[in-house]
Amino acid sequence: MDKITNATNQFEALIRDQLARVERMKAGQERPDYQKLPEIIIGTVGGDGIGPAITAQAQRVMEFLLADEIASGKVRIKEIEGLTIENRVAVGKPIPDDILRELKGCHVILKGPTTTPQAGDPWPNIESANVAMRKELDLFANVRPVRVPEQGIDWCFFRENTEGAYALGSQGVRIDEDLVFDFTVTTKQGTERIVRAAFEYAKAHGRTKVTAVTKANVVKTTDGKFLEIFWEIAKEYPGITADDWYADIMTAKLIDEKRRRDFQVLVLPNLYGDILTDEAAEFQGGVGTAGGANIGTRYAMFEAIHGSAPRMVDEGRAIYADPSSVMRAAAMLLAHIGYEEQARKFDAALDVCTLTEKKLVMTGRDTGATNSAFADYVMETIRK
Ligand code: IPM
Ligand code: MG
Repeated sequence: MDKITNATNQFEALIRDQLARVERMKAGQERPDYQKLPEIIIGTVGGDGIGPAITAQAQRVMEFLLADEIASGKVRIKEIEGLTIENRVAVGKPIPDDILRELKGCHVILKGPTTTPQAGDPWPNIESANVAMRKELDLFANVRPVRVPEQGIDWCFFRENTEGAYALGSQGVRIDEDLVFDFTVTTKQGTERIVRAAFEYAKAHGRTKVTAVTKANVVKTTDGKFLEIFWEIAKEYPGITADDWYADIMTAKLIDEKRRRDFQVLVLPNLYGDILTDEAAEFQGGVGTAGGANIGTRYAMFEAIHGSAPRMVDEGRAIYADPSSVMRAAAMLLAHIGYEEQARKFDAALDVCTLTEKKLVMTGRDTGATNSAFADYVMETIRK
């Protein structure tokens, strides 16, 4: 078959897949009313490298905070094992089928870091487990708050999590040695739901401004659509100021001390959201200090934002890995399912243990505390 026909056929298959996804979005999903469910199932996924060690400690604190709910059967914590790079490579899939089934049997998920294969690795270049989970469970909103009170920074990023450059990130088309294509995808349904989520958040939290970030001056069709929908939805929220910036100048303005305090809620396509949220997290101490929420309608997943640090495991140091990012994620999970009081206590204790009191220090090696000692410290602090 000639290469143009071949590529055209590949593109046709991608169009069919994306049209089917649009139909699924139109059909919609139902959001569970967690507190009315007979049983809330929280899945925990350790992941790779230091993931199982730190996730287990976050789970201990959740079990401590939800002791009554677990005893009464209202909450069940289900450990899901085996989402490891070795298993993923063995079946050639970013999430093995049996694990995906188990994930779909939960209401919410707490996830440790998973290794993302990249070109040049010993691993085959399969899709990232994070990206696959976001797509499979349709977790369309990646919500990443960044706060630095002493600098007046209080941002909340709503990164679109299922489309853009990520939708077909591992399905680019290679025409021949000389010519390759990747795709970026924007849908009306996918954009409406993320933009609306950002405005609804602003409304619920008394924020007065929502900012869209695109490159619609250059990426005219997809980003253009995103921006057009943003302005349409903005009309439904007359009490909230809307504005829009291009991603390049926004990257600069985040470090402009005079301007950066003006931003409150930001909504962005996937790739710009990926980049800007790392930049933003750096102000509050780096990606290791924050948890991330991946929210859909039916499911939600909360994760550590840092990597799996395989070297720490090789050197026998997994017990010294800092669990605070996955603990922050666990606190967000508790708030999401309606245990706001427990979430507040968890976050307040983490502030004491990592920012103000710091009776234990994590150094990543035997000069510092182990993660189980850190979890004990967090629980003692909560008890006080
Ligand atoms: C993130 C990460 C992932 C992403 C990687 C690990 C695939 O950088 O959660 O921001 O690009 O989304
Ligand atoms: Mg990232």
